[in-house]
Amino acid sequence: MKFFIDTANLDNIKEAQDLGVLDGVTTNPSLMAKEGITGEANVLAHYKAICDIVDDNVSAEVIATDYDGIIKEGEALAALNPKIVVKVPMIKDGIKAIKYFSGKGIRTNCTLIFSPGQALLAAKAGASYVSPFLGRLDDISTDGLQLIEDIRLIFDNYGYPTEILAASIRGPLHIVACAKLGADVITAPLAAITALLKHPLTDSGLATFLADHAKASGK
Ligand code: G3P
Repeated sequence: MKFFIDTANLDNIKEAQDLGVLDGVTTNPSLMAKEGITGEANVLAHYKAICDIVDDNVSAEVIATDYDGIIKEGEALAALNPKIVVKVPMIKDGIKAIKYFSGKGIRTNCTLIFSPGQALLAAKAGASYVSPFLGRLDDISTDGLQLIEDIRLIFDNYGYPTEILAASIRGPLHIVACAKLGADVITAPLAAITALLKHPLTDSGLATFLADHAKASGK
């Protein structure tokens, strides 16, 4: 399973990259705004900075919602760096644009997926990734993990190469559940990824090992 970090914060991206387990980054307009990155030139420069840190898979989201606008923005983003994956919303013109990008060899991430039918359509159009937002479904008392399971079944039925990028992850248990369900990728905040490290029995077990070693060594 690939691990992406869901942030535009360069320090968090560097920390995850330094851990040695990072396969990519997802951003969105809200995450860019959270870092205070505004204006086209600054946004493009920020994507370049992210590409300088990680090995591949930097999702950069278009703002346009019309076909021509999505194509123009997407091509400009893709031209920034070969690591860029153009993130396109799940709307009618988005699907048409994904089909276009697919024909041009430009990788895409279809975002804001909330139903199996939306994922099917995006895969059919040739999306490289679909991003089901499981946390936001959980937030409205709908089973987000069930969506991951349904998409997995559909993609496996037809051998779609589109990768399931489980997004809107809220904690470590979401990550583990996605791994059990066969999601190809998770994207999560740094805290959810590093929370996977933690177990109280690891801490107490290590403390005992070190204490026993010190005693045996006469320290
Ligand atoms: O980047 C897309 C998605 O992961 C957003 O998550 O936490 O805003 O629902 P969240």
